[in-house]
Amino acid sequence: MSDSNPPTFLSTVLGTLEALAEPGTEPLPGLVSPDPLRPYVTLTFAQSLDAKIAGTGGRQLILTAYGRHRVEGRMRTMHDGILIGVNTAVNDNPQLNVRHLPFPTQNTHFQHYHHPRPLILDAQLRLSPTCKLLTNAAIGAGKAPWVISSAPPPADGFFAAEGAAEAVQEWEERKAALEEAGARIVLVERETLHPELPPTTTDLPVHAVLKALKDEGIRSVMVEGGARIIQSFLSASGTSGLVDTLIVTVAPMIVGRDGVGYGEGLEKVPGLLHLKTEVMGKDVVMGMKVVKV
Ligand SMILES: NC(=O)c1ccc[n+]([C@@H]2O[C@H](COP(=O)([O-])OP(=O)(O)OC[C@H]3O[C@@H](n4cnc5c(N)ncnc54)[C@H](OP(=O)(O)O)[C@@H]3O)[C@@H](O)[C@H]2O)c1
Repeated sequence: MSDSNPPTFLSTVLGTLEALAEPGTEPLPGLVSPDPLRPYVTLTFAQSLDAKIAGTGGRQLILTAYGRHRVEGRMRTMHDGILIGVNTAVNDNPQLNVRHLPFPTQNTHFQHYHHPRPLILDAQLRLSPTCKLLTNAAIGAGKAPWVISSAPPPADGFFAAEGAAEAVQEWEERKAALEEAGARIVLVERETLHPELPPTTTDLPVHAVLKALKDEGIRSVMVEGGARIIQSFLSASGTSGLVDTLIVTVAPMIVGRDGVGYGEGLEKVPGLLHLKTEVMGKDVVMGMKVVKV
């Protein structure tokens, strides 16, 4: 049973028909952020009935086909950027382009759809210079990724950690290799009360990431996961309202306790206003507006 129509579903959920980019065009500025200091943010992922987004040890799950690919592909044409965590980039080696959409009628190749800019949260620069995002970009099958990072802590001075000089040198070498392969490194500031000390976490502050992306001209971002990124964005949304829309695909399967979930450890959660639910093939796709509680 299916009454699915991804364009209509997305125009209802994202609030604008104009933003559905036609082949060969950039997305229109239909997705307008309520905050001029950050892009419009759509958080979207697919999960099993027991709220798992990956299998044991982070193994990629082929959760859905019909609903996810059609909605996801359309959504990708509607956003300037598509953001994932570095673990997803390393584990899944994704392409993050619009190859699952049917060929455009007036053009002959899917490259005529707007490709979103891949954005990888990766403080330690673990992305491989030979990943598909970079090899695809080199042949025009997607935009070159931007790797969002932050400068490593100082390598000298009284508080410098043991091995800090080597760590800085290795980070610089990885940066050079990624740039050589076509990536752009975007640095964000870490706020810390003690900038002289090594940071206690490598997680990049979500609001600083979004501000840096807006400063670089990214007007809308689709955040695709994985689990830690979903947690960070949901938490940031619970405290500071940084996510606008949540679109979740639920597949009719159960993964079990060894799968990767995102709910554990979520302290602050945002409020949700249901907009539309649609059956697509065997999957259920839900669209919600994120509201302050
Ligand atoms: N079902 C779906 O829709 C879907 C979508 C995407 C991914 N996935 C699955 O998710 C799994 C990976 O999830 P994951 O939780 O292991 O990793 P992840 O969320 O993809 O990446 C997390 C990593 O990103 C870096 N990071 C930088 N800033 C961060 C921040 N503010 N918040 C969180 N992380 C930040 C950290 O790298 P460092 O530790 O190096 O600093 C962190 O370890 C994969 O197996 C993939 O298949 C599923």
